[in-house]
Amino acid sequence: MEGRGIGYPVAQLAHVEIYTPKPEETLWFFTELLGMEKLEQRGQSVYLRAYEDYYTYSLKVTERAAPGLGHVAWRTASKEALDECARQLEGTPYGLGWSDGDMGEGPAYRVRTPDGHVMELVWELEYYQAPDGQKSLLRSRPQRRPLRGIPVRRIDHVNLMCKEVGPNKQFFMDHLGFRLREAKIGHGGVEVGAWLSVSPLVHEVACMRDSKGRGNRLHHIAYWYGYPQHIFDVADACPDYGIRIETGPGKHGTTQAYFMYVFEPGGNRVELFGDTGYLIFDPDWKTVVWDVANESDLERSSIWFGGRLPESFYTYGTPDDEAAAPERRQAS
Ligand SMILES: [Fe+2]
Repeated sequence: MEGRGIGYPVAQLAHVEIYTPKPEETLWFFTELLGMEKLEQRGQSVYLRAYEDYYTYSLKVTERAAPGLGHVAWRTASKEALDECARQLEGTPYGLGWSDGDMGEGPAYRVRTPDGHVMELVWELEYYQAPDGQKSLLRSRPQRRPLRGIPVRRIDHVNLMCKEVGPNKQFFMDHLGFRLREAKIGHGGVEVGAWLSVSPLVHEVACMRDSKGRGNRLHHIAYWYGYPQHIFDVADACPDYGIRIETGPGKHGTTQAYFMYVFEPGGNRVELFGDTGYLIFDPDWKTVVWDVANESDLERSSIWFGGRLPESFYTYGTPDDEAAAPERRQAS
């Protein structure tokens, strides 16, 4: 679907802000296990980057009483696209207005999805300049590869738990120019999942039905490795450091990517993406539709090799009423 006369206004996922009630342990997870770089602290927030993120940071971790999503920032295709998006959304139930921008970014226009997830649209983003001693000789790499943990390369996508998939999916398509790449339809024709992108990736955002009916929750954020081996390496380290793996490593039918889901100590679910899955170059892409009322499609779309995702995958999101967020067990 065209982005209302301005082409595709959103170009890519820029960064995500998550909340955590355990900032120190959450930071440990991202810096020591996933090898991310801590940039600086401002108030209750810490800014982090993966070594192949081109902009200054891709993750903002903010201390709050409960885990969850702060906001998702999208870089627009141009300054004009940002202004046009803001103009079209201002005065609608979705427009939240301009903010002066955060660290490393210029003016940002904030919107909220029909469910209430906060999105930020921004054009001006600072590119990361590695300090001396952290520069890479590989000129396409903005920072030397860290030697800590099993370092992730860049942010990949975000998955939002929605009360109803339909209106949220439509919001991304109608207002931000996303295209619907894959969809899961359940019993009675109910939409249970939508995978949307603005680039050849199968998704930069997914909307999944919240089986608890709450909506406006975070299902997960995902970081990318490029090599499935690296999720096996992380999987091997997780038990030693008290990090609970929810499911994986495995291969999704949807997106075809190798995955693993873990809980960071603050309670948010984090996906490690082994490879990219398949890419879409067809400008006239026909949405891949899975009929998950059908047992075979349910299993194959979730885990291509067969089997089911655990029940928690459909019920747990952040924030959560129950203290389902697994405690990090102290490793000796
Ligand atoms: Fe994902």
